[in-house]
Amino acid sequence: VVIILIKLLFSCRLTEMFLLLHFVVLIDVKDFALTEGSTITPLCQKGYFPCGNLTKCLPRAFHCDGVNDCGNGADEENCGDTSGWATIFGTIHGNAGEVEFTQECFLNQYPQGCDCKETELECVNAGLRSVPTVSSNTTLLSLKKNKIHSLPDKVFMKYTELKKMYLQHNCIRHISRKAFLGLHNLQILYLNHNCITALRPGVFKDLHQLTWLILDDNPITRISQQLFTGLNSLFFLSMVNNYLEALPKQLCAQMPQLNWIDLEGNRIKRLTNSTFLSCNALTVLFLPKNQIDFVPEKTFSSLKNLGELDLSSNMIMELPAYIFKDLNLLQKLNLSSNPLLYLHKNQFESLKQLQSLDLERIEIPNVNTRMFEPMRNLSHIYFKNFRYCSYAPHVRICMPLTDGISSFEDLLANDLLRTCVWVIASITCFGNLFVIGMRSCIKAENTTHAMSIKILCCADCLMGVYLFLVGFFDIKYRGQYQKYALLWMESLPCRLMGLLAVLSTEVSVLLLTYLTLEKFLVIVFPFSNIRPGKRQTSVILTGIWIVGFLIAVIPFWNEDYFGNFYGKNGVCFPLYDDQTEEIGSKGYSLGIFLGVNLLAFLIIVFAYVIMFCSIQKTALQSSETRNHIGREVAVANRFFFIVFSDAICWIPVFVIKILSLFRVEIPVTITSWVVIFFLPVNSALNPILYTLTTSFFKDNLKQLLHRHQRKSVFQMKKKSLSISIVWTDDSSSSLKLGVLNKITLGDSIMRPIS
Ligand SMILES: *[C@@H]1O[C@H](CO)[C@@H](O)[C@H](O)[C@H]1NC(C)=O
Ligand SMILES: *[C@@H]1O[C@H](CO)[C@@H](O)[C@H](O)[C@H]1NC(C)=O
Ligand SMILES: *[C@@H]1O[C@H](CO)[C@@H](O)[C@H](O)[C@H]1NC(C)=O
Ligand SMILES: *[C@@H]1O[C@H](CO)[C@@H](O)[C@H](O)[C@H]1NC(C)=O
Ligand SMILES: *[C@@H]1O[C@H](CO)[C@@H](O)[C@H](O)[C@H]1NC(C)=O
Repeated sequence: VVIILIKLLFSCRLTEMFLLLHFVVLIDVKDFALTEGSTITPLCQKGYFPCGNLTKCLPRAFHCDGVNDCGNGADEENCGDTSGWATIFGTIHGNAGEVEFTQECFLNQYPQGCDCKETELECVNAGLRSVPTVSSNTTLLSLKKNKIHSLPDKVFMKYTELKKMYLQHNCIRHISRKAFLGLHNLQILYLNHNCITALRPGVFKDLHQLTWLILDDNPITRISQQLFTGLNSLFFLSMVNNYLEALPKQLCAQMPQLNWIDLEGNRIKRLTNSTFLSCNALTVLFLPKNQIDFVPEKTFSSLKNLGELDLSSNMIMELPAYIFKDLNLLQKLNLSSNPLLYLHKNQFESLKQLQSLDLERIEIPNVNTRMFEPMRNLSHIYFKNFRYCSYAPHVRICMPLTDGISSFEDLLANDLLRTCVWVIASITCFGNLFVIGMRSCIKAENTTHAMSIKILCCADCLMGVYLFLVGFFDIKYRGQYQKYALLWMESLPCRLMGLLAVLSTEVSVLLLTYLTLEKFLVIVFPFSNIRPGKRQTSVILTGIWIVGFLIAVIPFWNEDYFGNFYGKNGVCFPLYDDQTEEIGSKGYSLGIFLGVNLLAFLIIVFAYVIMFCSIQKTALQSSETRNHIGREVAVANRFFFIVFSDAICWIPVFVIKILSLFRVEIPVTITSWVVIFFLPVNSALNPILYTLTTSFFKDNLKQLLHRHQRKSVFQMKKKSLSISIVWTDDSSSSLKLGVLNKITLGDSIMRPIS
């Protein structure tokens, strides 16, 4: 198609060319529309998931987006991430509703301001300064929000019936070693929101029935293993937001029944391989927001029953490869917000039951499909970068859905961008087409030069085509880009578009360099005989196209090495650089933009500077100075604009690339602005700089207008003829007719001249 297009262009047959282009675009529109009936087998292809018991499959992003795409609502079911403790303990905590109280009080001793219901006593916010004396057969004692600051020896000694005790919000500072003596039946003890700094070993030693111990929001700095002596039934231990810096050598040695430990928001620095050694019953382990930087091998090896593990927001840089090896029942793992440098390729190998994996804010330089494949039951996965989602195609819900270039709904996130794409695409495309047409139809005195310019316009025109395609796909996905983002970036059209853009820029850059050097030879060495002839020029031009094509095609050659080189963002231009790119594609992109292009840019700048100096010198030598000044200014202006347009086009790209070398984070939106505004500058301005403003062209235009006036009567007849031909040829689309009409008009204006 490309070859035919080029041929048509060169033979001045714009009508046929447009028909062909139109046809190509029409074919493209049909691709990946929703394949509704095509998936008959119940097993969906990669990245697709079934609609409940229907045979229909939908891409991942159609599930849980708030729209009933399946028809039976199955795509909006099971969306919440309820794995981990929520499901494990769902049955236990499911009906924690209020117990019905009769208003009767069975207690005969309690202070004023307390509420008594049966044997339960609530003294909330009663201004108490010490533990009051109450009936000995009280079963629930709540002393929340009082001013009790210490718990002396044997203060609860006679309350052997007590099952639940609430002591939060008192600013208790001091707890005597024998404070809880005699509470043989206590099951639940709340001590959160107090001012406890230390707990003495053995303080809980009589609490054999205790299952629930809450110590949140206290400034406790250390706990010893002996502290938990006697807590043989403890099931739930929570010490959120304390100041713990270390954990006892064997945390669970005294608490064999411990199921749940929550140590969020402490200052724990290290875990050792014995910390959880005897925690065989442990089901939930929360350690987020600590300062853990090292997790040795075998730390979790005895946690055979662990269902949820949260290590998020720590300082873990490295995880041993087999750290999760024994966690066969783990359902939920949260590693987000750790400065992890690396994940081993079999890091998650044994987590067969895992349903939810959170890797937010983690770069995975060696990301690959095999890393996530063993986790067959995974239903939720959270990444830093949405491109990683393509490495976990079997996971139904993957977050995030898009990057920053494109918003949630649209490929081009911004109205300005959207408008500009079309404007710049039109200028680039039609400017270049116009020049090609003009140059094909006007006989030039220097045919080799004209050929070079025409070839340059072809390359630049491709940039316009690329921008049109960006605009086209933006419209196609308008309002629902998030659903297609990944499919789009993985798709062939996106890769081909990227190829087109790179081909265009590279050929254009190489041609500009060649044209510059040619001019340089003529001006700096006016008497030498090294001028490329027609054949040499053809060879060089062909060579440039081949080189450009090779540069653009090489990334397709090895998927493992280059990854998806073009599909890194919504506009498919391989500029955006993040640290997780495959080394191959990173190096290659650097090689293109900071190697080839920077070199070409420098050559162009230097060549023009030298040319300018040389022209000035010869002008000074000659006598007719006054005559020369005007011409010299014109030459200077032209040179300046040529270099300037190159600079606008390339300097932003160089800057981005250099910054990325220094690992500066570049906002992703910048890429789309550069790709849409700066990169096409050259392509859009080249026709003006190399043709429309040249004296050759101006002279020809004048001649043309002159002749046109004379032949206008003849012209009118020809025009009506061409319209009627088009009408009979193809009357299916009136829009097409309009386009064709204009083109044949333009065409027939040209004809008489050639
Ligand atoms: C799918 O399941 C629904 C109930 O959830 C049922 O009404 C329907 O008949 C099922 N359809 C098929 C094809 O099994
Ligand atoms: C609680 O103890 C008091 C005596 O202190 C007694 O009168 C009362 O009946 C007891 N109530 C229950 C429910 O045992
Ligand atoms: C724990 O680590 C130490 C070294 O830090 C090692 O000597 C010991 O064998 C390890 N224990 C287990 C159970 O792996
Ligand atoms: C993981 O932890 C972070 C912060 O600690 C939290 O915001 C996030 O919701 C957790 N992820 C899941 C899946 O619960
Ligand atoms: C996945 O989960 C289901 C229950 O949701 C369970 O029956 C099945 O065994 C699990 N698969 C694996 C590979 O463990």
